[in-house]
Amino acid sequence: MHPAISLGIDLGTSELKTVLMDSAGSVRGQASVRIATSRPQAGWSEQSPQDWWDACIQALAQLRAGWPHEYAQIACIGLSGQMHGAVLLDLDEAVIRPAILWNDARAEAEAAALARDYPAYADVTGSLPMAGLTAPKLLWLQAHEPAAFAAIACVLSPKDYLRLRLTGNKVTEMSDAAGTLWLDEAKRSWFAPMLAACGMTLAQMPALAEGDAATGTVLAAIADQLGLPAGVVVAGGGGDNPVSAVGIGAVNGGDSFISLGTSAAIVSVTEAPLGNPAGGVHSFCHALPGRWYAMGAILSGASCLRWATGVLGQPDEAALLALVEAGLPFDVPVAPSAPLFLPYLSGERTPHNDPQVRGAFLQLGHDSTPAQLGYAVLEGVAFALRDAMAAVTSTGAVVPHCMLVGGGARSQYWAQLLANVLGCEMRTLHNSELSASLGAAKLGFAAIGQRQLLSTGLPIKNTFLPDAAHSAALSLRYGRYRSLFPAVQALHQLSEG
Ligand code: XUL
Repeated sequence: MHPAISLGIDLGTSELKTVLMDSAGSVRGQASVRIATSRPQAGWSEQSPQDWWDACIQALAQLRAGWPHEYAQIACIGLSGQMHGAVLLDLDEAVIRPAILWNDARAEAEAAALARDYPAYADVTGSLPMAGLTAPKLLWLQAHEPAAFAAIACVLSPKDYLRLRLTGNKVTEMSDAAGTLWLDEAKRSWFAPMLAACGMTLAQMPALAEGDAATGTVLAAIADQLGLPAGVVVAGGGGDNPVSAVGIGAVNGGDSFISLGTSAAIVSVTEAPLGNPAGGVHSFCHALPGRWYAMGAILSGASCLRWATGVLGQPDEAALLALVEAGLPFDVPVAPSAPLFLPYLSGERTPHNDPQVRGAFLQLGHDSTPAQLGYAVLEGVAFALRDAMAAVTSTGAVVPHCMLVGGGARSQYWAQLLANVLGCEMRTLHNSELSASLGAAKLGFAAIGQRQLLSTGLPIKNTFLPDAAHSAALSLRYGRYRSLFPAVQALHQLSEG
């Protein structure tokens, strides 16, 4: 008998990433395929579930061509994916309209209405209703696209659509179910009153599994099409943040990390559902049974650096980072009067819950340089994460040190700045850009009874300790940053009025 290989599939927002992992946890092959997003109106963000499936087929074809030996040994699949998207299926399991994604702000009024009308539900569902989460999107559809709403037989989270195509089964698991706001976090079962508040019923929900459980096997016809062996088991998997947690070994209470990708999040694993919905924290089920996590989610993370690179006319992010490192070396604390940046390029979730607020540069002068503006952007994202960290620890969750994952983890300068701003040790890891697909592959193995990888992490690349020489200057600047939020919030309220 050949040793088994697990296929991890992470359906990200900008690309679908896959890995082939052996039972020692080594990556034997990898492939990724870009995915397009459409923004039909300001603040909207949609993708076609068929595009996800096409990307999956393409990525698997690359794996099969590049690593035919390993591909032929695939025994299990784990799925990870962008959270909070609404995939709407009719009675024939056909997709009714493009999926509405996590970074879509259209359901702001519906989120506010749910919070106003059902204030007690947030303690059950683990979060305040927010525009990006799934539940308010369904209320929006009911009001604005009644024909589509009336046709809904089932609502799936994004990665669960891939499961449907692979196995024919309509199943989700606890961590993505939590991100819909229709789950009772403590009981790990659907919460019918919240469904009713959105005009939905239990009959429209997929079956629930744990992330490490088997949810079916790949259909024979699909296995033929994809060249997979017969009987490949598909694990529950999970949302991208909890599955990244599994990928880096954050599976026990107090294990913490920051994910610095398009969006950013600070996550602390908990062994009970600890919540503080009013603080804008998400307290959701982990992708493993008996575990939860407290998360502060910020909507613009490394995407702020990408944006700044473009507007400052730099060829790429590395060029802007090089300017920052040369212009603002860590041997000199930053001046209180240097430019400040508020990173709300697409609104904010934790702690502000305001999808309409927008970002700002402040304290600009004739002498402001691209390096200073670039620094302000890195620091502004770090300040937003400091807000998010305060929200996370307000639940009782602890953050003794943080692993750093996502594209932003490539910059050592940013990692040191995060350590200084958060007053917390940061650890970068080898292979962390693959954390979600690695976590998915590990959950795949768990579903076929190979659980030994669940407690393993990734090797540490670098450790960044907070430098006390910077704390006074950074605290002063953080105080200014905090004081500016009411002004930018008032601005957008004025522009709406
Ligand atoms: C988490 C969140 C994002 C998405 C996209 O709450 O909205 O991290 O999962 O990656």
